[in-house]
Amino acid sequence: MLASEFFRSLDMKKFLLTPLLVLLLGCSAIMAQNSMVITADQPQNKISEHIYGQFSEHLGTGMYGGLWVGPDSDIPNTDGFRNDVVKALKELKIPNLRWPGGCFADEYHWRDGIGPRDERPVRINTHWGMVEEKNQVGTHEFMRLTELIDTEPYISANVGSGTVEEMANWVEYMTFDGNSTLANLRRENGQDEAWKVKFWGIGNESWGCGGNMQADYYADLFRQYATYAKDFSGNELYKIASGFSDENYWWTETVVEEAGNQMDAISLHYYTLATGNWGNKGPSKDFSEDMYFAGLSQGLKMDELVTRHSTRMDKYDPEKRIALAVDEWGIWTDPLEGTNPGFLQQQNSIRDALIASTTLDILNAHSDRVRIANIAQTVNVLQAMILTDGKQMLKTPTYHVFDFYTVHHNAMLLPMHLDAGTYEHNGKSIPAVSATASKKDGSVRLTVTNLHATEAQEVTADIRGVDLGSVTNARILTADEVDAINTFDNPNNISPEEYEDYSLEGNELTLRLPSKSVIVLRITN
Ligand code: AHR
Repeated sequence: MLASEFFRSLDMKKFLLTPLLVLLLGCSAIMAQNSMVITADQPQNKISEHIYGQFSEHLGTGMYGGLWVGPDSDIPNTDGFRNDVVKALKELKIPNLRWPGGCFADEYHWRDGIGPRDERPVRINTHWGMVEEKNQVGTHEFMRLTELIDTEPYISANVGSGTVEEMANWVEYMTFDGNSTLANLRRENGQDEAWKVKFWGIGNESWGCGGNMQADYYADLFRQYATYAKDFSGNELYKIASGFSDENYWWTETVVEEAGNQMDAISLHYYTLATGNWGNKGPSKDFSEDMYFAGLSQGLKMDELVTRHSTRMDKYDPEKRIALAVDEWGIWTDPLEGTNPGFLQQQNSIRDALIASTTLDILNAHSDRVRIANIAQTVNVLQAMILTDGKQMLKTPTYHVFDFYTVHHNAMLLPMHLDAGTYEHNGKSIPAVSATASKKDGSVRLTVTNLHATEAQEVTADIRGVDLGSVTNARILTADEVDAINTFDNPNNISPEEYEDYSLEGNELTLRLPSKSVIVLRITN
């Protein structure tokens, strides 16, 4: 048949054919194809739940106002901590909470924060807005918060402006259950039983706000501090050295070479800057696809950073005894207009939620080395889980991602070969799909992200080595616009919904993901 005849015949049958063609062409145009193979009978290593840690610094309204309102506040609270935020954080199953900084930690002196609250000294928070630090949240209050939200404390100790004695005393004050002046002081201040406090950071960004040190000098200081930080009363300390930010690999290598035998982990900080420019980081709301794409592609750099820092560590620690603690990460944007620039307040969009899901996929994939991580920060600061304004509070899209990813806490990582399509924008390209597969309590757990701003993705997963029964607990987070956010007027604009656009036939799971989405599901047998 000639082409002209074909089209004439089409014309005659257009009543029947046109809708069919539109459907077929439309589907193939918008539904890009991706495939993955998951080997479910060959689990790799455990994904430590501590990868899902949080960070709460004395910074802006992160602690004061966001978490702590004081016992006399008319905002409903328990022992000073607001009930709405405590409830939301408890539901998030946070494994550890890092405190009191950040840069603040290296000017924090723990004795300022014990004893009657109205007698505590007022200091200046020199890093974050030069505001008064009235020390209303100190050791006892923070430990009460960890009880309320059921998490483990991760204390960041002062090396920059503190002393070895000060840190040694803090450890004794908190964890010694015998008879000593410091342990008795803790009892006088209301805490009889010694606390269990495993995670201790020894300095923060010691190359920068934590003292502007050289790597050799810090390595020596770390050894000294670590020597006098003792395991009291069965409390075994997990000592985390201050690592570098971004791609400064020499610091990691030097500190691990010189002090590796005394540490359990060394940190890595990486903040996603959509523009790649600290002077002009880009907005957290009202942005176009350019900023959406740029944010996601900058976030994906975490993979290279973790790989390379870990390779440097391999030289002295091929067994991977020392963990990489990615204890600050997330997107950092320009502050919201009209806010104190020192308070680091930003909105949180669907883009940021996908930066979280793709970063967590990277950390999961490296969970043989990355065994603790902390997104910055929990409430009102940077890429927060929760925003508050006076009595109001909302859960951000990033909160919902952390909620989805609880399925991977302490689950076994499953090997995955992902053959993903690409998301191209302005001549640049990133993978269109990111995912993690894990297994726990007999069920396979899967989180999948479609990064593409406009194209839906079909993902066919060949899940080998297990008998699959049915899909359960399937949820999706998505939005119509690349810069969609939750606001106090519309707090559930982006919130999880039931996910149904999948099919399971034998061992083949087919998922259809709309653009800008992340899904979670379990498959039980
Ligand atoms: O999270 C905000 C700040 O970023 C932290 O205080 C510091 O460690 C980092 O530079």
